[in-house]
Amino acid sequence: MTVRHYLSLMDLSAAELRQIINRAIEMKRQFAEGQRIDLFKSQTAVMVFEKSSTRTRVSFESGIRHLGGSAIFLAPNDSHLGRGEPLEDTARVLSRMSRMIIVRTGDHARLETLAEYASVPVVNALSDFNHPCQLLADLQTWFEHRGDITGKRVCWVGDGNNVCHSWMNAARLLNFDLIISSPSGYDPDPELLKACQSYVSIERNPLVGVKDADLVVTDTWLSMGREQEKVQRQKDFEGYCVDKTMMSRASVEALFMHCLPAYRGMEVAEDVIDGPQSVVWDEAENRMHAQKALMEFLLASLDTH
Ligand code: CP
Ligand code: NVA
Repeated sequence: MTVRHYLSLMDLSAAELRQIINRAIEMKRQFAEGQRIDLFKSQTAVMVFEKSSTRTRVSFESGIRHLGGSAIFLAPNDSHLGRGEPLEDTARVLSRMSRMIIVRTGDHARLETLAEYASVPVVNALSDFNHPCQLLADLQTWFEHRGDITGKRVCWVGDGNNVCHSWMNAARLLNFDLIISSPSGYDPDPELLKACQSYVSIERNPLVGVKDADLVVTDTWLSMGREQEKVQRQKDFEGYCVDKTMMSRASVEALFMHCLPAYRGMEVAEDVIDGPQSVVWDEAENRMHAQKALMEFLLASLDTH
C-alpha cells in the first residue's frame, strides 16, 4: 500500500469518507469516556503553518497529544522554508523524523510538491484552494445532528472560496444537492464546478438559494490575504448576510454552519450565529475528533507501507 495523503476530500472514496466520519463520532465518545489510544507511540507530527490559525492548530495539537504524540509547530520564520529551502528537501527531511506533515499554506501547489516528496502522510490544513479538514468536522456535525446527508439540500451563501470548494467535493462524494449563492464575480473555480455539475448549481439570489434548504452554510467574505479588499467586498456582498429573514426561507429544521472565524454583521447576523439553529461550536469541537479519525486512517497506510 502506498502512503496516503489528504490534500482534498477527493483523496478519499465515499466509503472511506463515511468510515472516517463514523470513526470520528466513535472516537469522540471514547475520549469522553476516558479511553486513550497510543497511535503515535511518542513520535511526532510536524505542523508547517504559513497562515494564521486558532482552531486548526489547537485541534491538531490537542488531537496529536491525545493519540500519544507530540506536535512540532513551525511558523514561517521558524524553519528554513522561510528563507527558501526547497519544499522537496524539506519534505524528505521531515519524513525521516516525523510520522506526519500537516501544512497550512496559500498556494495549493506547495502541498502537492510536499506530498510528492514526502514518505509520510501530508495533510492539507487549509490552502487557498480548499479546506478538507474543515469538511470532515462539518460532515461529522451534520451526521450527529441529522443522520445521513445523501439527498439533502445544502445552500452555501457568500464567497465561492476554499471552504466552498470542499463543500462541492463533499456533495459529489456523498450525493447531496449544493446550491451556491454567490454574487457575480465570486463564483467557485469553474473547472471544479464543471466536475461537480450533477450535484452543484449556482443561484445568484440567496433568498431563492436557501429556499427549503436543510442546511445553510457561510464563511467570511474576507479570507486570509483578502483583507485589503474589505471595502469593495462589503459592497459586492450586500444582500448576502445570512440573517433571520434568510433563515426563515430554509426548512424549519434547517441548521446553520460557519467554519469560523466569523464577522458578525457581515456574512452572518448575530442572532443567527448565536441562535438555536447554529451548530458552529459543535463544528469547532469536531475539528479535533474528525482529525484524530483522519490521522488514524492515514497512519494505517504508513504502517503497511
Ligand atoms: N476554521 C478554521 O480553520 O479556523 P482557523 O483558521 O482558526 O484554524
Ligand atoms: N475562507 C477562510 C477560512 C478560514 C478558516 C480563509 O481562507 O481565510
